Amino acid sequence: MSAARVDALAAAFRREFGRPPEGVSEAPGRVNLIGEHVDYNDGLVLPFAVERSVLCAWALRDDTAVRAYAADFDERSVFALGAIAREAAGAWGNYVRGVVAALRDAGHAISGLDLALTGDVPSGAGLSSSAAVEVSVAGALRDAFGLALSDPGLALLCQRAENEFVGVQSGIMDQFASVLSHRDAALLVDCRTLAHRDVPLRLARAGLAVVITDSGVRRALLSSAYNDRRRECAEAVIRLRDVLRRPELASLRDVSLDEAAALADDSDDVPLRRARHVVSEIARVAAAAEALERDDFTMLGRLMVESHLSLRDDYAVSTPELDLLVALATAQPYVAGSRLTGAGFGGCTVSVVQADAAGRFARDVVAPYEARTGHRATTYLTSPQDGLRTWRLV
Ligand code: GLA
Repeated sequence: MSAARVDALAAAFRREFGRPPEGVSEAPGRVNLIGEHVDYNDGLVLPFAVERSVLCAWALRDDTAVRAYAADFDERSVFALGAIAREAAGAWGNYVRGVVAALRDAGHAISGLDLALTGDVPSGAGLSSSAAVEVSVAGALRDAFGLALSDPGLALLCQRAENEFVGVQSGIMDQFASVLSHRDAALLVDCRTLAHRDVPLRLARAGLAVVITDSGVRRALLSSAYNDRRRECAEAVIRLRDVLRRPELASLRDVSLDEAAALADDSDDVPLRRARHVVSEIARVAAAAEALERDDFTMLGRLMVESHLSLRDDYAVSTPELDLLVALATAQPYVAGSRLTGAGFGGCTVSVVQADAAGRFARDVVAPYEARTGHRATTYLTSPQDGLRTWRLV
């Protein structure tokens, strides 16, 4: 964590609350290498934490008020523990309120505190700024009240906040990645059992780097489009119980590749096309994790491109802008693979590129993209970082 960011946040805390913070937590955003829209289908995902993060400074109060201050926007969200109401849809305060409500409802002994937040995870870009806010707040409260909460338990609680309080039916990937990631590794999570382990991501040794490109396009009503996909997957399970004569089918994780491939030829059958994406994507994640164990980035790149096509054609969550970014990237000899990352419907692509050519990416990919679409794209060079960390300041 950069000392300058902590100092600036501590100064903002003192200005707002008239006293210094007692501790600070830092939770990163994440990028998903592969495994998209499979976490809520009991699948496998392979994200890692990025350099961009949300910091949350805290100090206890002697009453039951929570006063949260967003230093970047100079905005406040103030509430009492006994009556945690929702703010307007999309308000940052809902992530804070949701986490506090989820901790309270889970029976954790908490009381009032002052919080100040700052972050540099771009919002709405598919890099999980919301999970970073949730996890940093939960990490702050765990320290502040000495809560008995494991790391996976903390991630699950943040997911519950997002599902129940914010109202987005997201899976567990983002919160898990923000809490449990490690430097130089991607985090393989089995979203059915929640078993997770580091998979080596030895990019530098292979002369490679990961580039995130923000298409500069955000879709309004992303959460309702996302919830629609969840519903379609649930429908697919019900249909497949019938079609495959497998009444015991619990989720798309239980469908084999052969079954899915045979079923989804009918291009008009939306739930079955969604199922084909999910089943094939889970297989690609398993193959990608194996490829990374042997530093086979050519294979990783191939799987990433297949993932993008499947998200575009079967899952229908890409956009013309993301497709163009991926097409421009994969046309370059120094790009191993590229795909949309996160929920889709706008946001970012993730590309694996030769490190010494990362500069050419701006000329070969970003410039023609901007010329053809009129949108401004932003690129970030990134590498895997540690998940949630916390410090005592006094
Ligand atoms: C969002 C959700 C995640 C996951 C991805 C798609 O980021 O929060 O749970 O479903 O979309 O893979």
